[in-house]
Amino acid sequence: MKTESPKHRGLWTTRLGFILAASGSAVGLGNIWKFPYIAGQNGGGAFVLVYLVCIFVVGLPIMLSEFVVGRNTQQSPVGAFQTLSPKTPWVGIGFIGVLAGFLILSFYGVVGGWTLAYIVKSISGSVDHFGSPKEAGDFFGQFIGHTWEIVFFHALFMVLCVLIVIKGVHGGIERACDVLMPTLVVILLVLMIRSLTLDGAMEGVRFYLYPDFSKLNPQVILIALGQAFFSLSLGMGCMITYGSYLSEKENLASSTIYVVIFDTLIALLMGMVIFPAVFAMNLEPTEGPSLVFIVLPAVFSQMPFGTLVSIIFFTLLAIAALTSGISLLEVVVAYFIDQRGWTRKQAVLIACTVIFLFGVPSGLSFGALGDFKIFGMTFFDNVDNITSNYLLPIGGMLTAIFVGWIWGPKAAKQEIEQNGVRFGWVGPWSFLVKYVTPVAVGFVFLAKFFK
Ligand code: PFF
Repeated sequence: MKTESPKHRGLWTTRLGFILAASGSAVGLGNIWKFPYIAGQNGGGAFVLVYLVCIFVVGLPIMLSEFVVGRNTQQSPVGAFQTLSPKTPWVGIGFIGVLAGFLILSFYGVVGGWTLAYIVKSISGSVDHFGSPKEAGDFFGQFIGHTWEIVFFHALFMVLCVLIVIKGVHGGIERACDVLMPTLVVILLVLMIRSLTLDGAMEGVRFYLYPDFSKLNPQVILIALGQAFFSLSLGMGCMITYGSYLSEKENLASSTIYVVIFDTLIALLMGMVIFPAVFAMNLEPTEGPSLVFIVLPAVFSQMPFGTLVSIIFFTLLAIAALTSGISLLEVVVAYFIDQRGWTRKQAVLIACTVIFLFGVPSGLSFGALGDFKIFGMTFFDNVDNITSNYLLPIGGMLTAIFVGWIWGPKAAKQEIEQNGVRFGWVGPWSFLVKYVTPVAVGFVFLAKFFK
């Protein structure tokens, strides 16, 4: 049986390739689909501010920690923690990661399927000439309630993930990320201009940028924290896995900063696309998961070359979703390859099939299983809530504690400074991972449970 031993693992071919692949993982549905709707549901400006604090105070130091652990051990999460701290329960962080990857991809694939369907619908001209936003909403509502169409596009998205991940790291993953990112920025800028020039747009800008602190409470802060983890692909060992395919030459600290800033800019930009349009069209910012799929087609219907822009936008969104989907799949697959000795092909095919099947009830949560509620939420919302708001923050907090207290910032610094790279921020960084991150995440949980 052919397995990928650490020495024979694929490596990213260029530094830019690594940064783009890590950004490819970070930038996805989390920024473009999820960020606007949860910012809308949680009060706009104040949420955005808390989110930014979470990104820079909690997310950034954890991302660097994950890259360092990955590159040092050249292993995926379970193996990485086993290597650094053999025969201790810390390996549990790795297992939390594999579980989170499995669960997130199960519903991520569903939304990825929606984006694929909307490419087809854009090409056939059915989502760019709505007379009113309400029509766009009804159209979307009907679509997500349609069992076979949903399952078909969900399956298609998973098949695309398989095709890329089966080819391994740089043949598939790296190349797929290289072109997308710059194109995505351009199209978002165009959309932002269209959105800002709609009548009544300024009210949306105010909602988005003016923080009304009365809207903050522990639940909102937990959601902002969870979204920071989700958006940066942290807390489940994804960046450990990507770091493990990295050679010793790269500067991990500056790569981290690029990825974090890029991811955050895309999310912020997307807010500037959505909220002005929401208010200009008298829609509700609290609409939920369907927000982007209703607002944008309504915008496309009101702009020149709407059909073309719609095709390009949904294609880019699908690619952004794919480059994140493959990173989720890679975490699960790398476990079976590294720890269980499966071949890549076996691991990809089996993991993906099981994840797809588990995702079907999420796909049907807006239609056939709409009334099936657990803890008052649909299957889809439960899986999303458990992963984003619990597994990722817990995984991230434990990673910070591990790097700060068990493995130690000294060892981490040595790894960062390989090949003469200077890391001048070790003081602030170790303060953040040792104290601030664990306390902040712990505090948010306590505040939520004892509120
Ligand atoms: N960061 C991705 C997004 O914003 O869409 C989602 C994601 C990918 C979460 C990989 C976690 C992960 F490990």
